[in-house]
Amino acid sequence: MRLARIHSGIPSRMQPPDLVPYFARIGGDPLRDAFATRRAAMPWRGGRSLAEDDIPAFWNTLLQNASSVPQYPLHVENPRGRALYLHVPFCANHCLFCGFYRNAYTADQAERYVDLLVAEIEGEAEKPAVRSRPITAVYLGGGTPSALSATDLSRLLTTVRHRLPLAPDCEITIEGRIIHFDPEKIDACLDAGANRISIGVQSFDTAVRTRQGRRATKSQVIRFLENIRRRDRAALVVDLIFGLPGQTGEIWREDLRICDALDPDGVDLYGINIIPGTPLHKAMEGGKFPAAPTLTDLGEMYRAGSDFLTSHGWRQISNSHWGRSARERNRYNLMIKAGAECLAYGSGAGGLLGRASYAVDGNLAAYMAGMSDGQKPIGSMRIGDDLQPARDYIAAGLETGMLDIAGLSVPGTPDAGKVLAPLLSQWQAAGILTMTGDTARLTTAGRFWYGNLVNAFNDILVKITGAPPSAFPMHRPSPAYQSNSGRLS
Ligand SMILES: C[S@@+](CC[C@H](N)C(=O)[O-])C[C@H]1O[C@@H](n2cnc3c(N)ncnc32)[C@H](O)[C@@H]1O
Ligand code: SF4
Repeated sequence: MRLARIHSGIPSRMQPPDLVPYFARIGGDPLRDAFATRRAAMPWRGGRSLAEDDIPAFWNTLLQNASSVPQYPLHVENPRGRALYLHVPFCANHCLFCGFYRNAYTADQAERYVDLLVAEIEGEAEKPAVRSRPITAVYLGGGTPSALSATDLSRLLTTVRHRLPLAPDCEITIEGRIIHFDPEKIDACLDAGANRISIGVQSFDTAVRTRQGRRATKSQVIRFLENIRRRDRAALVVDLIFGLPGQTGEIWREDLRICDALDPDGVDLYGINIIPGTPLHKAMEGGKFPAAPTLTDLGEMYRAGSDFLTSHGWRQISNSHWGRSARERNRYNLMIKAGAECLAYGSGAGGLLGRASYAVDGNLAAYMAGMSDGQKPIGSMRIGDDLQPARDYIAAGLETGMLDIAGLSVPGTPDAGKVLAPLLSQWQAAGILTMTGDTARLTTAGRFWYGNLVNAFNDILVKITGAPPSAFPMHRPSPAYQSNSGRLS
């Protein structure tokens, strides 16, 4: 099954890449067994890291200049739009499955943190780089933003809206969980301009929830969501996880059924990622929980979720996200996948300004000390290379399930589409995608194996251009632990 070597478009010093290692298995059920392992969809960023000592001066120069972003034709979301991410690194407790947990919530520390976050925003609000383009999506994520007090939520969102150049149709999302998100806080967010509330439900089943450290019962979760829905002032999004310990196929179908009946505007379906070092991973290692679900189990649950939503009037917006009402745009997540600029505030937040991707120090004490001294503590920064628009184009296309290969432009490789064509044909034969002309459309199986597809493209681009492989966390801190299987996002 060797491929014909296609020389067109390959720089003369390079050998054409061997595509065979990226082939999918033909003949079985592609959702169950197209690949032997599921690769994580890592943030995908090349370029070079800046030395720590060079970061402050570079950052100050960046802020003094209006940013100009390379234009690239993307069909998913206007890449000229700009996002804003604010990170709240506190949680009431560490849910067993979660790799995002950083700090226990205390009222005093959180209030002081919001003081510094507000100062961070105000300190940059008038800089040319910040003023140069409208912000079209804001995401207040965590950790647990809804752990903050109503007063802190209100002043944070009000600062963002009053001090920064938000577009009139800006999507403003607040992420939260049910426990401690009382009606006063919900109204404080809505009054301050939040127009999208994303709630981590994970599962409605009380036993499955309790085992993972989720404190609200099924009926409390339902009442909470009905309450937000009744207000009808913002898009409501529900996060569900499949493959949690004890979550049988029957419980998963019931999770989907309850979610559908509550009629939120958007829903995320995430396959469980057993992250080494998390309490869940340790409990599984110690035999306190059954072993992790197999890839086949996860594939079947993804198929059940996708089929259920499609047959109940939902439209798939990305590999893990579905929307039903016209209210739901999922703009922030699509923009991030498409490589849009993103201003970042708060300990652990990751951003992108021009070609520079950066992460604010994820160590809370270091963040607080830096901000108290009046210097934003940027922990790391990377300057993107010329290949980045091509990476963004591929990741954004695959994320939305459609990739027009004729539109791919790879510096130094004029015919990259031709190089990749045999791989796309093989994936078509394996049931991973269908081709209409130059456009590939992922099947449900292709969407499940998204991480494998993105990584294959990444490896091949690196091989044909000679660019060094690299990855850098974006938009929110990567889990504190190393992932080995990848979330479906
Ligand atoms: C960063 S978390 C914040 C959510 C919020 N603090 C909460 O507790 O609901 C965002 C979402 O990531 C998903 N998530 C977190 N850990 C995960 C894991 N190990 N595997 C799959 N999804 C996960 C959950 O669905 C969660 O709602
Ligand atoms: S799921 Fe949410 S509340 Fe639980 S540890 Fe993760 S970020 Fe914190």
